[in-house]
Amino acid sequence: MDSRDLVRSVRMVGSANGLRTLRSAWRRQRTDGRDLPRRGAERARVPGPAQGVEPLPGGGVVRFTRSSLRVRVAVGGAVFCGWDGAEPEPSYALAGECPAVDTRVELESDRNGDGWRVVSERVTVLVSRHGAVEFRTPGGVLLRRDLPPRWWDPAGREPGDRTRWVQRSETAADACVFGLGGRASGPRLREGSYRLWNTDPGGSFGPGDDPLYITMPVQMVVADASCHLVFHDNTWDGRVTLRDGEEGAGSGHDRPGGCELRVDGGPLRYWVLTGSPARILAGWTALTGRPALPPRWALGYQHSRWGFGDEQEVRRVAAGFRERGLPLSALHLDIDHYDGHRVFTVDRERFPDLPGLAAELRRDGVRTVSIVDPAVKAEPGNPVYDSGTAAGAFVRDARGQEVRGVVWPGEAVFPDFTDARARKWWGTLYAERLAQGFAGVWHDMNEPVSFAAFGEPTLPRSARHALEGRGGDHREAHNVYGLTMARAGYEALRELEPDTRPFLFSRSGWAGMQRYGGTWSGDVTTGWSGLRASLSLVIGLGLCGVPYSGPDVGGFTGTPSPELYLRWFQLGAFLPFFRTHSAITAGRREPWEFGPRVEEHAAAALRERQRLLPYFDTLAHVARRTGAPYVRPLWWNDPEDRKLRGCGDAFLLGDALLVAPVLERGSVTRAIRLPRGRWYDTATGTAYEGPGQILLDAPLGRIPVLARAGAVLPVTGEDGTVELEVWAPVAGRTGGGIVFTDEGDGWAAPLVERFTTRLADGQVVVERDGEDEVGHRVRVRGLPE
Ligand code: NOJ
Repeated sequence: MDSRDLVRSVRMVGSANGLRTLRSAWRRQRTDGRDLPRRGAERARVPGPAQGVEPLPGGGVVRFTRSSLRVRVAVGGAVFCGWDGAEPEPSYALAGECPAVDTRVELESDRNGDGWRVVSERVTVLVSRHGAVEFRTPGGVLLRRDLPPRWWDPAGREPGDRTRWVQRSETAADACVFGLGGRASGPRLREGSYRLWNTDPGGSFGPGDDPLYITMPVQMVVADASCHLVFHDNTWDGRVTLRDGEEGAGSGHDRPGGCELRVDGGPLRYWVLTGSPARILAGWTALTGRPALPPRWALGYQHSRWGFGDEQEVRRVAAGFRERGLPLSALHLDIDHYDGHRVFTVDRERFPDLPGLAAELRRDGVRTVSIVDPAVKAEPGNPVYDSGTAAGAFVRDARGQEVRGVVWPGEAVFPDFTDARARKWWGTLYAERLAQGFAGVWHDMNEPVSFAAFGEPTLPRSARHALEGRGGDHREAHNVYGLTMARAGYEALRELEPDTRPFLFSRSGWAGMQRYGGTWSGDVTTGWSGLRASLSLVIGLGLCGVPYSGPDVGGFTGTPSPELYLRWFQLGAFLPFFRTHSAITAGRREPWEFGPRVEEHAAAALRERQRLLPYFDTLAHVARRTGAPYVRPLWWNDPEDRKLRGCGDAFLLGDALLVAPVLERGSVTRAIRLPRGRWYDTATGTAYEGPGQILLDAPLGRIPVLARAGAVLPVTGEDGTVELEVWAPVAGRTGGGIVFTDEGDGWAAPLVERFTTRLADGQVVVERDGEDEVGHRVRVRGLPE
């Protein structure tokens, strides 16, 4: 064990569980030593020369001496490539049926006779005689070249799950890569190595920590020629190594961008989607599922703490918000409200009447949200343990013994969420949470974590999993543990309360997790670097199809300075999931804890959030319908603007706003890089023309927010109805916006209104669906006084 491991484990679990974690780590090592197939002799393999092709609707199969490649273009333009007979299904990422093939296209010989091609509407795929695959725009510009892969088959066996592989790829010299799940050092992922293995970093994390809780083999590649998303549908442990390209490198030739993906096993299959970022997200979420629609209250401000202590304390905190007139939408109860840290229980001494407390808070418009950890205390007599054992729901080792780990309640077992029966059983337990009055759930520790004094803080790699009946081990199931737990929770909530939109967010997850809910930063370090990392996570996850997320505002650990707390709060107010939270050992995070000035400015941020709620409602529906995240990188509409690609310190909030948080101590100005078009400083109404860089005031009381010329922003008016804030369009140009309104919960179809704006005789004209009758109060801004 190295000393860093020890420090990390003590930081994470305290000394109480220390011995157990030592034992558990040894057990894990022993189990793996005994049950994990040894990596014996291996035989390296490349596809070899092509032998022939079989055209099929949507593409076809190219047969090489030692492998085969299936190319399949789906309706909508997504391209699937599967080596060694890999098919799109089964897949944990795909939602429902695999999309139908585009029957209009087939593999054909390339004109210069050097391979084959599939020419589809959006992309041309070229397969060389040695198995290189190129993706080109319809105009012929290269987006991506995947070099022939290389496998290492276990000697003497057919290629199978245990086959390791590597694939090297080249992208344009100017390409920038985003995504790979939640990465603290982004949003642009610089040259370096990124692991694909969901990990609790322990303690807290900052920009230098990688990997974190959510990894996914999803890369959004942005280049002048076009953008593309590549998704390697493989859940095994892997590593992506990125290398920046260089234009005019050396002798004047470009050096392409490079990507190497190494994976420990499982299929080599991937999807490529091309086009604008909006098109790609639409295609990606058509494939993997549209994001769940949160209930409206989950778009309001929420507060949490590990260690509220007892009912009285929860009441005091709620009263603190109420008495100060600070809007609060939900309070979250962490593991300290459990009885001895046992999931699905309540400490009745400190929380004698949770349903009563929940009802009382609810009367004041405050929901309660419950943490749910997957680990179940392994203790006969614990009803959850007993019923799970009876249902055969817990992960076992190769000898059929329950796999034990250590989490908050001590010695614990872990449901196998890759087993439909276990998911069903687990889902029944959510009835207890609903009976306690909780309106939503917060899935935690589901990487999954098992504290370990050394080695990886998770289950043994040899632990067995059902994998939907196919059978396999933790090497394959680990990365989808959080995803499948989210599925269990979401499906249960749908069934238990069919008329309510589930509110679920999960620390860990994988491609497709947006179907079930959102996520949050996890234990982000309290410091300016943590503030920056929190924005990186939200932007990166949005580009992977997971639009609803946000950080622990104020950071998880320690005590932020009043200034840092406020700047974090001001950023949080513009992120989808807006929640203050902190560790049991950390300082408090209520806005009034940081002095009257901070309280006053935090109150202003809260009022602005309330005012923007109709806009957040709209953004939630837009995400649901199109996959476009609420929080978008500045280059979203201008991917060819290279200067914007490197900007990770500001973001677009939907189509209408640009938000530039203050991320540096002592700063009261902000340099902001504007995308093209006219932008108004919402504080002063001053217009600026992009592209270019501007400097705006960012006094302690606010962060700069700009509105796009022509935008229609739905906001809460003084009388509580939805008003339209319309920003004057540029003369000769039209603007507009779409507004979704719904009942705030349930499944009734929303009202959809489309507005257009233009200037006529110096006045702003707003029309709804082509009619003058707008149906809302309109406030025009940005016209000269
Ligand atoms: C880890 C989570 O990331 C954190 O938010 C939570 O407070 C603790 N677990 C305790 O449940």
